Amino acid sequence: MTQDELKKLVAQAALEYVEEGSILGVGTGSTVDFFIDALKASGKSIPACVSSSVRSTQKLQALGYKVLDLNEIDEISVYVDGADEINADFDMIKGGGGALTREKIVASVSKKFVCIADKSKKVDVLGRFPLPVEVIPMAVNAVAGKLRAMGGKPVERDFTTDNGNRILDVGGLQITDPKSMEDAVNAIAGVVTVGLFARRGADVLLLGTPQGVKKFER
Ligand code: A5P
Repeated sequence: MTQDELKKLVAQAALEYVEEGSILGVGTGSTVDFFIDALKASGKSIPACVSSSVRSTQKLQALGYKVLDLNEIDEISVYVDGADEINADFDMIKGGGGALTREKIVASVSKKFVCIADKSKKVDVLGRFPLPVEVIPMAVNAVAGKLRAMGGKPVERDFTTDNGNRILDVGGLQITDPKSMEDAVNAIAGVVTVGLFARRGADVLLLGTPQGVKKFER
């Protein structure tokens, strides 16, 4: 099976977690795009969504979904999003699509985080995928220096986030203690968000494999 077929498989499986009548949190990325299509095809009734990016908002609105500003609500029951890497403890690297800050905010107010990923995303140790770090533009060089001192190899991405900031993709890391690394990078002046989701990881992992969807719950 191709990677896209595996993504479609988990996108379809995530429908089981969609609570009709409740506001749904929707993440960002190619797997989430398949999820939005599957949601539409399912006919499930959602009063509104909260989205983690302009990209997902535009797709949802084009399909007729109402998208609320997060300030209009207090809590989301279910948030469905992808990941770039996920380990056995449900810690994740996210931000390959550049939406890490809004993803972390939406995840923080969601009762259940359902991660949808093809099998290539499951790893023993996080860090082979370069860790995205969203940075205030004037702090790019300063933050890159601090990340180098921590053993990383930061490369500035040719990309501006939905929040008007820059992204450093940090290679060369073996993230054996994701919570400590999340805290340490967050503490650097000029960092908006680090794409490590360990303090608030996933609650459910739906992993697409050629043998079918494997479900892991916390
Ligand atoms: C977006 O910023 C990311 O966090 C995505 O969730 C992640 O990159 C997964 O994307 P794909 O579903 O496209 O692999």
